[in-house]
Amino acid sequence: MCAKPVKKEPRQVETTGHQWDGIEELNNPLPRWWVWVFYATIVWGIGYSVAYPAWPLIKEATPGLLGASTRADVAAEIARVDAANAGIKAKLIAADLNAISTDPELAAYAERAGAAVFLTNCTTCHGSGAAGFEGKGYPNLLDDDWLWGGTMEDIHYTVAHGIRNTTDPDAHYSEMPKFGVDELLDETQIGQVVEYVLALSGQEHDAALAAQGTELYVDNCSGCHMEDGSGDRSQGAPNLSDAIWLYGGTREAVTHSVFYARYGVMPNWSPRLTEDEIRAVAFYVHGRGGGE
Ligand code: HEC
Ligand code: HEC
Repeated sequence: MCAKPVKKEPRQVETTGHQWDGIEELNNPLPRWWVWVFYATIVWGIGYSVAYPAWPLIKEATPGLLGASTRADVAAEIARVDAANAGIKAKLIAADLNAISTDPELAAYAERAGAAVFLTNCTTCHGSGAAGFEGKGYPNLLDDDWLWGGTMEDIHYTVAHGIRNTTDPDAHYSEMPKFGVDELLDETQIGQVVEYVLALSGQEHDAALAAQGTELYVDNCSGCHMEDGSGDRSQGAPNLSDAIWLYGGTREAVTHSVFYARYGVMPNWSPRLTEDEIRAVAFYVHGRGGGE
């Protein structure tokens, strides 16, 4: 059986009067539901822009009658967290630096807060894992090789005051002489003392030159790096007898260090971080492995 073909009568609809090749353009009204939805969106839009921040003005948008502000929400949330942490922060500031680790609640807070401070402020130079950048002068903070000392007090001091910066008069300070640039030693002598340093650190070296460098080392270097090369933390002079190098332990790198000297600078954080943040990050660094 076939369905009867239904012939649709053209409805009586106005035309727009346009026609092309005999085809007329009808002027069908929009569906009623569509028109109502359309009006509803206009009403909603006006209501919204009155109630909420909406129209951009020169400095900021119209505030809206409800006073909604995501910025204020964030500020309120920060204030809430600050208030919740105020007690533990005060406790951290009051605590003896070495006693932080003995209070589990305080230690857990310092560890977490310190990690956050570290990630935000220290990773650019010390790496996200605190392993530093070998050979570039940014020390590894995970090992137990310390330039300026690895106790909680030492680390706290280093972070608060920094190293060789010009902003804190109490920053750690020392300066290795520029043996080449200032012609304190000639090139032959530098070659000899460099072989001596290579020997000190147990690397492949020229024994004859190293022997000639011994006296040069004692006269020129041992005042800071010590006779056995173990370094001096009161002057931030690195240990030259181990395999850990701030600027590199190859013949070229050591020669560069002796010829031009090095001058590692670290900012002082006391103007930028609060005391509880400095304590937290010192605790975090101290706990990474090499703390003393
Ligand atoms: C702009 C780069 C820079 C930033 C940022 C930086 N440091 Fe340093 N930091 C250095 C340099 C360079 C040294 C080594 C200076 C030297 O040669 O004595 C250093 C040394 C240190 C030392 C001493 C290590 C030792 O062996 O005695 C500690 C501790 C330290 N930084 C912690 C931090 C902490 C914590 C932060 C973040 C709050 C931080 N640093 C941010 C560059 C930086
Ligand atoms: C006044 C103290 C002083 C004297 C003298 C001195 N140094 Fe240094 N030396 C330092 C300091 C401080 C540093 C670290 C600089 C820095 O951290 O940026 C250093 C760094 C070095 C380094 C780089 C170490 C590394 O880990 O990369 C070498 C190599 C070195 N010195 C060799 C010598 C030799 C060789 C002599 C003697 C010819 C000498 N120094 C004399 C203070 C001194």
